[in-house]
Amino acid sequence: MAGYISGDTRKVTTHRLIEMKQRGEKISMLTSYDYTTAQIVDGAGIDVILVGDSASNVMAGNVTTLPITLDQMIYHGKSVVRGVKRALVVIDMPFGTYQTSDFEAVTNAINIMKITHCDALKLEGGEEIIDAVKKIIAAGIPIMGHLGLMPQSINKYGTYTVRAKDDEEAEKLIRDAHLLEEAGCFGLVLEKIPAELAKRVADELTIPVIGIGAGGGVDGQVLVVSDMLGMSNGFSPRFLRRYANLHTIMTDAIQQYVKDVKDSDFPNVNEQY
Ligand code: KIV
Repeated sequence: MAGYISGDTRKVTTHRLIEMKQRGEKISMLTSYDYTTAQIVDGAGIDVILVGDSASNVMAGNVTTLPITLDQMIYHGKSVVRGVKRALVVIDMPFGTYQTSDFEAVTNAINIMKITHCDALKLEGGEEIIDAVKKIIAAGIPIMGHLGLMPQSINKYGTYTVRAKDDEEAEKLIRDAHLLEEAGCFGLVLEKIPAELAKRVADELTIPVIGIGAGGGVDGQVLVVSDMLGMSNGFSPRFLRRYANLHTIMTDAIQQYVKDVKDSDFPNVNEQY
């Protein structure tokens, strides 16, 4: 079902995402971290695949996104790109690779692009990182912004609760969103903010705004693939809709395999050489 609305199998580009916003076609986005999952997600017709630094939690079992390294993101990014034919592939620049200096930011961004062959990068932050964003874009690399709950700043917030509920933070978020658009970002992720605020940002910007926990008034939605497939049991924020219960399906299948091995039922005569 590649190209959900139109049957269009052409590669998704940043330009085509902006056209989708203009004609009111919602943009679908999911994370992937490995070749096999990326093949399935792409084949099912998703528009954008994010190699999120949530790989730190989902793939490596870390409590936060902070520990994942540039080399690890490059490894995940390369694996995903090999599995994708149509979707736009965006890779998160991990914590510490774009905040120290603009030179470091551009050097690291170029390395990710050169080695992974992905289409674009995503950075968390607004005014504080705007010079780095401009320099990376000037090097010819498309950038997606990320505002609202920014997991790389979890130690500053101290909690994963909804962001920008007060006027001061909401006003800063709106200012930052405009700064990112003016800097040349092709899109923006808004994470865990009030739906009304997210809709206002999406209405004010010409670039697509993709929400996660930001309501339905934005231009598209993103979820972590393992969460929406129900692979993890413990994580159930209000914004998460589960489309499958892979935890149960996989557990049942593995329990059956264990039983078959123990009972000498597997392999049978047709499953050997
Ligand atoms: O890393 C990630 O998965 C993300 C999404 C939650 C947007 O940044």
